[in-house]
Amino acid sequence: MQTQQLSEQTAHYLLLEEQFGAHNYHPIPVVLERGEGVFLYDVDGKKYFDFLSGYSAVNQGHCHPRIINALIDQSKKLTLTSRAFHSNLLGNYAKYITSYFGYDKVLPMNTGVEGGETAVKLARRWGYDKKGIEENKAKIIFANGNFWGRTLAAISSSTDPSSYKGFGPFMPGFELVPYNDTVALEKAFQDKNVAAFMVEPIQGEAGVVLPDEGYLTKVRELCTEYNVLFIADEIQTGLCRTGKMLACDHENVRPDILILGKALSGGVLPVSAVLCDDEIMMNIKPGEHGSTYGGNPLACAVAMEALQVLKDENMAENAENMGQLLRDELAKLNSPLIKTIRGKGLLNAIVINHENSEVAWNICLELKNNGLLAKPTHGDKIRFAPPLLISKEQILECVAIIGKTLEKFN
Ligand SMILES: Cc1ncc(COP(=O)(O)O)c(C=O)c1O
Repeated sequence: MQTQQLSEQTAHYLLLEEQFGAHNYHPIPVVLERGEGVFLYDVDGKKYFDFLSGYSAVNQGHCHPRIINALIDQSKKLTLTSRAFHSNLLGNYAKYITSYFGYDKVLPMNTGVEGGETAVKLARRWGYDKKGIEENKAKIIFANGNFWGRTLAAISSSTDPSSYKGFGPFMPGFELVPYNDTVALEKAFQDKNVAAFMVEPIQGEAGVVLPDEGYLTKVRELCTEYNVLFIADEIQTGLCRTGKMLACDHENVRPDILILGKALSGGVLPVSAVLCDDEIMMNIKPGEHGSTYGGNPLACAVAMEALQVLKDENMAENAENMGQLLRDELAKLNSPLIKTIRGKGLLNAIVINHENSEVAWNICLELKNNGLLAKPTHGDKIRFAPPLLISKEQILECVAIIGKTLEKFN
């Protein structure tokens, strides 16, 4: 149905992917070849506002010149040593990122899901070595609706059948409680074998689901009271996306284990990090965890620059202000198609008021035609999460595009 509107070039690339690539994604039919700041350009030269930012990996904007320069400079010197040897960058990076976030140590990995796996391993080990949980009995609690990737461990905690169905058997020792429910959490904590609660401060993939104010504070209190580690998965919410450096900063809570990924490299290469204090980190001994690429010199150089750019360009503040503007202006559209507008900073979503889930998809296709790229999640939700350097004028232009698009579906 859509192929008729596609250029010959676009159709060519889509066909290649379809013929030779696994069908494990369902992308919007656009073929991109260039990015700059808040903009993406397709193979026909058409320009778009990026309202997804690589699922929040491109907070600093596409091909940020400082981050790209760090990449180029370092790539000419040394890219990978493996952890069999030291590099002159890993120590500097470790010092930089631990003082940036205020933790004793960092464990560097690559993808976000590896960061999650690392956190779970750290928590289990702490549970055995420090909390005194009997061997192989440790439990990790997750919240319904969580998303932390698609490895076997990650899908073992999933409540989304499209993630877990047909891939069992699953990882034991994982339990679920409803999100935003501290009564259920406290009940789960009665079990002495609980080592950790791993939670997203705002659930991104679930459709930008915000907990009540005070939730994170209560989670922190309960974790402290019951000697359970609080693991914050800030892979999507962290690094200025929600208007603060970390989403946990909105309630001034400090997780015991912090997981970062995505924008830690500004979208340049997969870089993730797990941060915690010695009491937790130092239980892991040489050979017990790691990754060939984790902490490679190229990643270290890029991550330091990507983090510095966030501060130098006041991206948290801009995300806070532009996010408020975006939600206010979307509300002014008064569109009968918008059931809900929600978000924090520049992590936002609208819920489409239509029983047919095809409508959100078709709206995204029309947004694309009108020069804005967004993607539906869970049928009726569309995430609006542009790079954090977006300006006021650009927000207004984008809301005009969204308004014009929605009118077509009224
Ligand atoms: C909150 C959260 N955690 C973990 C992940 C997994 O990250 P990655 O895809 O880099 O493995 C994601 C990805 O969307 C995420 O949103």
